[in-house]
Amino acid sequence: MYITDGVFSMDGDVANLLEIVEIAEEYDLITYVDDAHGSGVMGKGAGTVKHFGLQDKVDLQMGTLSKAVGVVGGYVAGKQEVIDWLKVRARPFLFSTSMTPGAAAAIIQAVDIMMHSTKEHEQLWENGRYLKEGLETLGFNIGHSDTPITPCIVGEEKLTQQFSRRLQEEGVYAKSIVFPTVPMGTGRLRNMPTAAHTKEMLDQVLLVYEKIGKELGVI
Ligand SMILES: Cc1ncc(COP(=O)(O)O)c(C=O)c1O
Repeated sequence: MYITDGVFSMDGDVANLLEIVEIAEEYDLITYVDDAHGSGVMGKGAGTVKHFGLQDKVDLQMGTLSKAVGVVGGYVAGKQEVIDWLKVRARPFLFSTSMTPGAAAAIIQAVDIMMHSTKEHEQLWENGRYLKEGLETLGFNIGHSDTPITPCIVGEEKLTQQFSRRLQEEGVYAKSIVFPTVPMGTGRLRNMPTAAHTKEMLDQVLLVYEKIGKELGVI
């Protein structure tokens, strides 16, 4: 099997699925894409596989309903035989309580919105662009994200955690991500702009980042 994320959550970069599918075909491998961070974001909302036009080539797509969809639960999409097999063999599916009717209704509604409107999707990407541009202009290292996920790389672990605490004191929630989740010395603040953020909110975030960045000597 070739298993990969569609969008990598810590850097916001995107898997090169075209190359991955080519390798998988050469070695006759099953392809499996975890699109937890790609669904609702890539491919105009339909995910990373659709972004690359590989719907007929990728065997399994898995995603969560807790991120862009905003509820709870997850899904697996693939050929009918595989789905039938999972229904009788996938332990988390077999031995867990099913989701509540309320959650299912909210998911249906969210997917319906995603399928019939590009407004939220466009706003999400616009907000991501705006935040990235603002942080970069201030002199922060924002890595090489291809998606709205906007890491702000501080480096040293303790300093990153201190930065995150100071942000929270000033009303900005950006969790610090440090070793062993990311390599030593690449601690970062993980900014997740959403479609619900307004330009005023993002401007406020940038003001706070500037203040704390200078206070802690990061910029
Ligand atoms: C790549 C990836 N896959 C799967 C999951 C699991 O999603 P959930 O927490 O909704 O079960 C996550 C969540 O954090 C994730 O980042």
